[in-house]
Amino acid sequence: MTIGRRKFSSSIMLVPLLWTPSLHAQVARTPVMGWSSWNYYTCKVNDAMIRAQADALVSSGLAAAGYKYVIVDDCWQGERDATGKMHPNSKFPDMGALSAYVHHKGLKFGIYSSPGPKTCAGFEGSLGHEEQDAATYGEWGIDWLKYDLCTFQGDLAAQIAAYRKMHDALAKTGREIVYALCQYGNGRVWHWGASVGGNQWRTSRDITDSYERMSLNGFGENGLERFAGPGHWNDPDMLEIGNGKMSRDEYLTHMSLWCLLAAPLLAGNDLTTMKPETLAILANPEVIALDQDALGVQGHRVSQEGPLEVWVKPLADGSQAVGLFNRGESPMATTANFEQMGLPGEASVRDLWARRELGRFTGSFSAEVPTHGVVLVRIRDRHQSGGSH
Ligand code: GLA
Repeated sequence: MTIGRRKFSSSIMLVPLLWTPSLHAQVARTPVMGWSSWNYYTCKVNDAMIRAQADALVSSGLAAAGYKYVIVDDCWQGERDATGKMHPNSKFPDMGALSAYVHHKGLKFGIYSSPGPKTCAGFEGSLGHEEQDAATYGEWGIDWLKYDLCTFQGDLAAQIAAYRKMHDALAKTGREIVYALCQYGNGRVWHWGASVGGNQWRTSRDITDSYERMSLNGFGENGLERFAGPGHWNDPDMLEIGNGKMSRDEYLTHMSLWCLLAAPLLAGNDLTTMKPETLAILANPEVIALDQDALGVQGHRVSQEGPLEVWVKPLADGSQAVGLFNRGESPMATTANFEQMGLPGEASVRDLWARRELGRFTGSFSAEVPTHGVVLVRIRDRHQSGGSH
């Protein structure tokens, strides 16, 4: 090979092949927080509803607590014009204006599509129009894209290529766009999600507002912790807190578990009619701090005894977040063993839902945990400072 003489021209040719601009290095260094339309509205969503939720995100204090992304899930799509450009349907008269409205409130704006010909709700997908759609999202000022497998046909290699293709198209917009893969955890997406530029990937099927489904999605992530980290997170799906079908203890379990998992926190309730107890669960700063901890380590289960589980998440200041969960049908005493968690013999324990110091404990910490409930604590040894609270 005459490398010397051909160097200049071949390097020009190679640049587009080798340079795959990556979005995921910059965004979602901690799990994304926000609100998404699907769990509450499903397809019955429109521009005015999104504006009202954006307003409520700010007025409730949730935006200040970290919830910044306002996301329109499925059902916004209309038709393509003669040039193939995608337009929203009549419920979203001007997507650029909606995006500007959301941005004007200091928030970020997200949207939804599919690598298939149709979305899960039967609207137009992006197949064959990836670059064009990404450019349109760029014009609209999109900061997030959920890309939902739905009707995509093809083997795993084809699926991986399709996800990469949209990532590369998004990168060309020059915007920092969070890229959320949604294909329900098939093909062990945690092995390849980050390599196609995914900032998060769903690990399971759709959540519902039920303790059983929420538990399957959340507790089912044990063992996947090594695949998560800053910029690339496992996603057990959006929150159902406040949608009304779970008990308070079950919603406390939901929030505690998602934060121990370093999961994306996308509220999925109606923020305009939210009860104070819902806000208190979504906005507890000491619990959010676990999710958003700079170390970016996903928690895991350290012990299980029948329905009782102890989960631990190491934190940047050397302390440990510990969740004592009772998945059983009656209240039960649960014990977190310090040695099992790599803690010294004596440590101080703070209850993060009660927001009070429980004192110093030797060897272990035990608590009575309600049915389907949790006791969530932060445990420090004596050499650590008081931390963020
Ligand atoms: C799938 C996804 C959901 C939601 C719907 C929209 O079921 O998993 O989160 O986006 O599609 O149709």
